[in-house]
Amino acid sequence: MGENQVKASVLFVCLGNICRSPMAEGAMRAAAEKAGLDIHVDSVGTAGYHIGDPPDPRAIATAQKHGVDISQLRGRQLSDADFRTFTHIVALDKGNMAGIKARAPRQGDFKLSMLLDVLEGQQGEPVPDPYYGDARDFEEVWQMIDQAVAALIEELRD
Ligand code: 4NP
Repeated sequence: MGENQVKASVLFVCLGNICRSPMAEGAMRAAAEKAGLDIHVDSVGTAGYHIGDPPDPRAIATAQKHGVDISQLRGRQLSDADFRTFTHIVALDKGNMAGIKARAPRQGDFKLSMLLDVLEGQQGEPVPDPYYGDARDFEEVWQMIDQAVAALIEELRD
């Protein structure tokens, strides 16, 4: 085991698993790889509307612009097994957090948080849903996610 070994597995959770959480998954995987950290990363939606679907084309394009390929990801819905698999379950907004809590077992070894909790002064703040927005909204969301993921990597490294 190397010095950079962290036994963390991170699950990002949004509503549809086609916009925000796949971008978070891609950003996190890229950042972990760059940092030489062995972290298992995945994403899901609390809803089942997009099971089996690729990410939204605007999410794919935005990630691609930043050198991250998320085109192979497919939508999946939060399942009971996820609470046994992941050490960190990270909600993108408050509605997602409510959806997670509604499904979560009373006890478990997972840590629940909101993604922006890792950013000073943004604790509890949501990453807004860009689904009904445009490319600019996707870019703004990418920037928020990318910043938070960098901070999350630092936190997991400690
Ligand atoms: P996401 O965005 O939760 O960031 O993946 C959404 C995608 C699809 C829908 C809602 C939000 N939808 O209602 O289909």
